Amino acid sequence: MLPQHLWALICTAAGVLGAISPTKRATICNGHPQFCSRPYSNITYIGAHDSFAFSADPFALARDQEVNITAQLQLGVRLLQAQAHMNGDVLHFCHTSCALFDGGSVLSYLKLVKTFLDKNPNEVLTLLFTNPEGLSPATVWKPVFDAAGISNLTYIPPSLPVKQSDWPTLGSMIDAGTRVVVFLDSQADGPEPVNFILPEFSMIWETPFSVTNASFPCSVNRIHGPLATEDHMYLINHSLNENIIPIGDGVIIPDRLDASTTNGVPSILSHANGCNPLGGNRAPTFVLLDFVNVGAGFKAAGELNGIIAAPSSNASASAAASPTSSRKSAAVPFTPHLSWTLLGLWVAVGGHGLSYGSVL
Ligand SMILES: *[C@@H]1O[C@H](CO)[C@@H](O)[C@H](O)[C@H]1NC(C)=O
Ligand SMILES: *[C@@H]1O[C@H](CO)[C@@H](O)[C@H](O)[C@H]1NC(C)=O
Ligand SMILES: *[C@@H]1O[C@H](CO)[C@@H](O)[C@H](O)[C@H]1NC(C)=O
Ligand SMILES: *[C@@H]1O[C@H](CO)[C@@H](O)[C@H](O)[C@H]1NC(C)=O
Ligand SMILES: *[C@@H]1O[C@H](CO)[C@@H](O)[C@H](O)[C@H]1NC(C)=O
Ligand SMILES: *[C@@H]1O[C@H](CO)[C@@H](O)[C@H](O)[C@H]1NC(C)=O
Repeated sequence: MLPQHLWALICTAAGVLGAISPTKRATICNGHPQFCSRPYSNITYIGAHDSFAFSADPFALARDQEVNITAQLQLGVRLLQAQAHMNGDVLHFCHTSCALFDGGSVLSYLKLVKTFLDKNPNEVLTLLFTNPEGLSPATVWKPVFDAAGISNLTYIPPSLPVKQSDWPTLGSMIDAGTRVVVFLDSQADGPEPVNFILPEFSMIWETPFSVTNASFPCSVNRIHGPLATEDHMYLINHSLNENIIPIGDGVIIPDRLDASTTNGVPSILSHANGCNPLGGNRAPTFVLLDFVNVGAGFKAAGELNGIIAAPSSNASASAAASPTSSRKSAAVPFTPHLSWTLLGLWVAVGGHGLSYGSVL
């Protein structure tokens, strides 16, 4: 009698325990246990400006990155920025125009991203794409995300716009499998919206694209209501350009020689601190860099996040560890000829306004 009761009790207890057994919870989020309980918006992420425009070739003057997409993600980049254009009837990432430079199809790019996401299930990633041709999110963009298998991994907010303070935690996004946040700078709030393609400027403001001023003065440059400025997240455009032909409007290219200073901790922190009062006394959510493998961007982000930089986030160490492999990166989109083509074009247009940096 008694043993039977006891047995029943044990079974009931086990059943109850089974029913309430916790679902698997992420304990490490974007590399850090502390991040799991922090809102998506309260983390500082390093972003790669013109992520597709990579080349190991120092003569490729118009490159913005030295290492490929996979290498950028492995270094710790958690925002990928890129600009899309139609090339024929296929969506490509191109620098200003596909006739000038073609970085390949958006689909092949997103497939590389998907491979990384599958291998790294505890990482939240932001995709920030620019849409200068105003292409339809529904008929042009969504099919590409679907084909790459990324649509199902996206975060869809319950309503728009999302206030800075209302974003879910990294942990809950990872647990739900909705760990890709997609922003588009134009048309996301147009006539053909898609629920996972979010309008950038109603939730993020940006600092100006700094052309040549190394002190990065801060100002709110692109923003949409109705949310107040401090209810937006913000992105600092921390990439420096140089004017290699200071005649007329000049020829402006990404400044590789100064990249280790630009991407150093003092420069990034001073830019971030300058923006802090405009950003509700918070650090930037996104720090957009050229040449993410150079300097100490990940260390700066670690400081802004109030954590000790993880060894895997040591960009200079990683870069130093594989100098030869990064030189040999397979798909090199720029050729040395491009720079000469550029200079030729500049001469052809009479030295006026051929500016890569400021166009992007
Ligand atoms: C999303 O996942 C569902 C169920 O797993 C599947 O039926 C659907 O085709 C997927 N959609 C895309 C765009 O991959
Ligand atoms: C900041 O950089 C982004 C990415 O290149 C670009 O889309 C944007 O135009 C820049 N902001 C401004 C104000 O130029
Ligand atoms: C660069 O920015 C600093 C800080 O705002 C400003 O004092 C300086 O005049 C700027 N320099 C140029 C050349 O615009
Ligand atoms: C996150 O919140 C802390 C505490 O309020 C703040 O110091 C930090 O600047 C915030 N970071 C971001 C990116 O919002
Ligand atoms: C990064 O790596 C370099 C080279 O190995 C090392 O000197 C430096 O101390 C490392 N920094 C951090 C923050 O781990
Ligand atoms: C990216 O670059 C790395 C070397 O840094 C190389 O091993 C890898 O094959 C490249 N990936 C692609 C897709 O080209």
